[in-house]
Amino acid sequence: MSYNSFGRVFRFTTWGESHGPALGAVVDGCPPGLNLSEADIQPFLDKRRPGQSRFTTQRQEPDQVRILSGVFEGRTTGTPISLMIENVDQRSKDYSDVAQAYRPGHADYAYDAKYGFRDYRGGGRSSARETAARVAAGAVARLVIPEVRIRAWVEAIGGDSIDQAAFDAQEIDRNPFFCPDAEAAHRWEALVDAARKAGSSLGAVIACEAVGVPAGWGAPLYAKLDSELAAACMSINAVKGVEIGDGFAAAALTGEQNADAMRPGTDGPAFLANHAGGIAGGISTGQAVRVRVAFKPTSSILTPVPTISPSGEATEIATKGRHDPCVGIRGAPVVEAMMALVLADQKLLHRAQVG
Ligand SMILES: Cc1cc2nc3c(=O)[nH]c(=O)nc-3n(C[C@H](O)[C@H](O)[C@H](O)COP(=O)(O)O)c2cc1C
Repeated sequence: MSYNSFGRVFRFTTWGESHGPALGAVVDGCPPGLNLSEADIQPFLDKRRPGQSRFTTQRQEPDQVRILSGVFEGRTTGTPISLMIENVDQRSKDYSDVAQAYRPGHADYAYDAKYGFRDYRGGGRSSARETAARVAAGAVARLVIPEVRIRAWVEAIGGDSIDQAAFDAQEIDRNPFFCPDAEAAHRWEALVDAARKAGSSLGAVIACEAVGVPAGWGAPLYAKLDSELAAACMSINAVKGVEIGDGFAAAALTGEQNADAMRPGTDGPAFLANHAGGIAGGISTGQAVRVRVAFKPTSSILTPVPTISPSGEATEIATKGRHDPCVGIRGAPVVEAMMALVLADQKLLHRAQVG
């Protein structure tokens, strides 16, 4: 088993490496008759695309998607949808050092330990180039759940958090950090610049919210909506923590404080709070589904780090080449995509069981 697929009814498989000719996704189980063209997918890839500001890597990947199958006369046919993105800015020479030394924080050693062989150019399959394929598949998933609005933003960089009282949804697309707090975005310019100039890197927290999910999606126990979302977000490169709703903070609350109290509403219950992140017993409640995701700091840094060579000698590595000073920023569109992919699958699963 190689685990390159995700989802049950709405199922996608990604393929490709960072330095191969192309990468992509095959989406299987998409309902027929949905209007789909490259124009429905490209805007989401453009949000994740590198080289758009000085705060992300300067690699220039146009990430133009092509639909190779599963669409006829502009509509999905119900057959596998194959999406392809060419790799055009790979520079294998940037990675020649990586053949001689394992990069701490990367999959280099672990891949060698498991497979006895690895594609060291940009990390091969472990490279986050793969997340472009998820974003493309996620754009198709969104067409399956038109009733749901999904939005992710950056909540903290390098431990510096937004002021929740200053949250302005309009601000998210106005700055290069997907930041809803204009003042925090301003502070982060200096913070990320300083890390980049010092050859260092920073971590980030991404929040993602899905509004419009009806009550009833998800399943009890082994496929709780919480666990599906956690698995989906944890599968993203560099993610080391996932919280649903208040997450770890809920452990510091009392039962009264944490209760999502209910009152009769006009169309179903009116909830007075949403500590649970819109999920109870693994099933959506009709409230906003909320997840927070912790991205570690970029492992590839200019500062030399002690490591070993594949033959076991002590050495050190400073990763040259073009890297994101904070991978979490470009992680935001990837978290949105995983939210869409999980919810599309859950909608179809719900329909299959309950009608
Ligand atoms: C959008 C995105 C871009 C990334 N770009 C880089 C990068 O430029 N340099 C780097 O060291 N890591 C980058 N990463 C993270 C690595 O791919 C990841 O840390 C590595 O493959 C090891 O996997 P793990 O951190 O999940 O254990 C990126 C992650 C994401 C989500």
